[in-house]
Amino acid sequence: MKVASAAVLAALLSISTARADEPPPGASSCSGCHAVNAAAETPVPPIRGRTADEIMAAMAAFRAGKQPATVMDRIAKGFTDDELKPIAAWLAQQK
Ligand code: HEC
Repeated sequence: MKVASAAVLAALLSISTARADEPPPGASSCSGCHAVNAAAETPVPPIRGRTADEIMAAMAAFRAGKQPATVMDRIAKGFTDDELKPIAAWLAQQK
């Protein structure tokens, strides 16, 4: 879990350096673990192919502790719905 926590921290730190023409603030903290392009093979379930509504619903379930999680419950608690909406929309558009 130490490794995952460090990854989350590093990802969150990168938020402040994001520019306006890039993915919405916080999106890079998702794509650090969730591959957003089809080619990557990772043990983390891909978000690709999910609609923004599905991502928002999953995040709400993680936050409420209704969906089993190793890390997503804690990550979901770090974002408000207003922050997640543009992130979910951006993630849903990645091919
Ligand atoms: C530290 C790595 C990590 C980060 C960062 C991360 N995730 Fe996850 N995500 C996971 C893992 C691992 C799972 C599988 C559930 C679990 O074990 O917590 C998951 C599951 C999910 C799921 C459910 C997918 C499915 O098929 O059920 C969604 C949706 C999701 N994450 C969205 C996000 C969003 C949105 C962000 C950014 C705000 C994000 N994740 C950031 C590791 C991460």
